[in-house]
Amino acid sequence: MAVCSAELIVVSLLFMSTVFVAADSHTFARSLLPRELGLKEEKLSHLHFYFHDIVSGPNPTAVRVAEAKMTNSSATGFGAVVMIDDPLTEGPETSSKEVGRAQGIYALASQKDTGLLMVQNYVFTEGKYNGSTLSVLGRNAVFSGVRELSIVGGSGLFRFARGYAQAQTHTFDRKTGDTCVEYNVYVFHY
Ligand SMILES: *[C@@H]1O[C@H](CO)[C@@H](O)[C@H](O)[C@H]1NC(C)=O
Ligand SMILES: *[C@@H]1O[C@H](CO)[C@@H](O)[C@H](O)[C@H]1NC(C)=O
Repeated sequence: MAVCSAELIVVSLLFMSTVFVAADSHTFARSLLPRELGLKEEKLSHLHFYFHDIVSGPNPTAVRVAEAKMTNSSATGFGAVVMIDDPLTEGPETSSKEVGRAQGIYALASQKDTGLLMVQNYVFTEGKYNGSTLSVLGRNAVFSGVRELSIVGGSGLFRFARGYAQAQTHTFDRKTGDTCVEYNVYVFHY
């Protein structure tokens, strides 16, 4: 009998310690210092590139994936949703060196002017930025001069990113609809 209750105590102690360990390894949230993540000084970077929205020809990089019944009769194309994988290049020529892609969606979100809702990731492929991304969320009134979009986050070298992008149409081909847009992006990151 004495042995039995001793065993019982050992077993229940083991059980309790298991419960404590389990609770420990499932900590949901904790605070930590920036240096524990290897974060040092925050820096500001300026990126400059050209965005090519190719809607015509056999290999478009922007395709309409949805629309409303009234989209075709709307003067501003209200309701159209376009999926893009647009090249980002160093210079304005389509043959210029590619530094990344703009992948995501733009949707015609304005009934009064041509105002796009831009929801995209810039996926960089060049040099030290290869594999890093910036996430963009903003309004783009494409027939205005300089438009400003928010940079709401990033990954890789752009972790904790925040900032803004300025977009200015470089060329717009009225016949084909193909557009080249100059981008200046200012972003804080670590
Ligand atoms: C809108 O116009 C496009 C191009 O002409 C056509 O392919 C599409 O079917 C039209 N959509 C509707 C809802 O009428
Ligand atoms: C970018 O990274 C990918 C995947 O790691 C690699 O295949 C590619 O060669 C890299 N490109 C450049 C320009 O370094």
